[in-house]
Amino acid sequence: EQKPFVFDASIFQKQSNIPQEFIWPDDEKPNPESSPVLHVPRIDLKGFLSGDPLVVSTTAELVKQACVEHGFFLLVNHGVDFELLKLAHKNMEFFFEKPLQEKLKADRKYGESFGYASSFTKRFSSKLPWKETLTFRYSADQKDSNIVESYFLNTLGEEFQEFGKVFQKYSDAMSNISLSVMELLGVSLGVGPKYFREFFEENDSVMRLNNYPLCQKPDLVLGTGPHRDPTSLTVLHQDDVGGLEVLVNGIWHFIPPDPQAFVVNVGDTFMALTNGIYKSCFHRAVVNSRSPRRSLAFFLCPKEDKVVKPPNELISSDNPRLYPDFKWPDLHEFTQKCYRVDMNTLDAFV
Ligand code: SIN
Ligand code: FE2
Repeated sequence: EQKPFVFDASIFQKQSNIPQEFIWPDDEKPNPESSPVLHVPRIDLKGFLSGDPLVVSTTAELVKQACVEHGFFLLVNHGVDFELLKLAHKNMEFFFEKPLQEKLKADRKYGESFGYASSFTKRFSSKLPWKETLTFRYSADQKDSNIVESYFLNTLGEEFQEFGKVFQKYSDAMSNISLSVMELLGVSLGVGPKYFREFFEENDSVMRLNNYPLCQKPDLVLGTGPHRDPTSLTVLHQDDVGGLEVLVNGIWHFIPPDPQAFVVNVGDTFMALTNGIYKSCFHRAVVNSRSPRRSLAFFLCPKEDKVVKPPNELISSDNPRLYPDFKWPDLHEFTQKCYRVDMNTLDAFV
């Protein structure tokens, strides 16, 4: 058993002396100012949903290129109300600005996946992330239609009723656009719009709010260390500060912020569903000395009983099965047990 590191809540304010546990080895230290921009396609969701055959085929081709190469693209014309996005950011701020004692009412226990976590609580890695997070479950099941709202009412009380309502609505919207993206991904892979959509229709997903305080020594620390998302599809909304980087061909590339767009990326579970044709790749978040940064991440996950297995159309003698069948909760449990963020958990798991 490793002992957790626990820091004083003022750690992100003082900063005169960054504790050793936050400092990354030299070859993993970021160099935020020098990362080249990653050119990712802007995928027009409304255009795709219009059904116009020419728009559908060009959009599918664009998304395919990006997913075969690195799995990242931007989603524009997504139809999510800008007011809802503003409300989500406002409420996220409201939570993170609360005193630590209040945030700890939603404390994430070791080995659990949900709740509030930061280096003020318990972390078991020696490379601590320069951030705090609030993670909660989402279910697209009709019988769980208030799951987000009731979680916050139960853990944080009446004061968070509005907060719960906003994030219930936000998560519903994220689930909906994920399903539309699944239609597009199905078309792009030649298995039709329904195949993946139906697989994820009753998803059991995860939402995470990220708060990255500013840091006087941004070249020593990382907001989020290098990792691949073990989940299926990530839909990220970042504010206008920027910090997301993706490792492509061995070089860290920067994805410039665009509050009008969502950054979407393929995770390990979807990579397995496509028999490795679409890539899940390493990414990280850097911090800076100018401004704190916030992001909202929705992680689409299959229901627990779904068997993750590619459709026959994606298996051939040229492209044999890469991964055996598995169920998401087993991969999830495995990743929860890993201390290292920077490993390929899918390959280690199978
Ligand atoms: C993550 O990949 O977990 C965080 C990405 C971000 O905040 O930009
Ligand atoms: Fe991620």
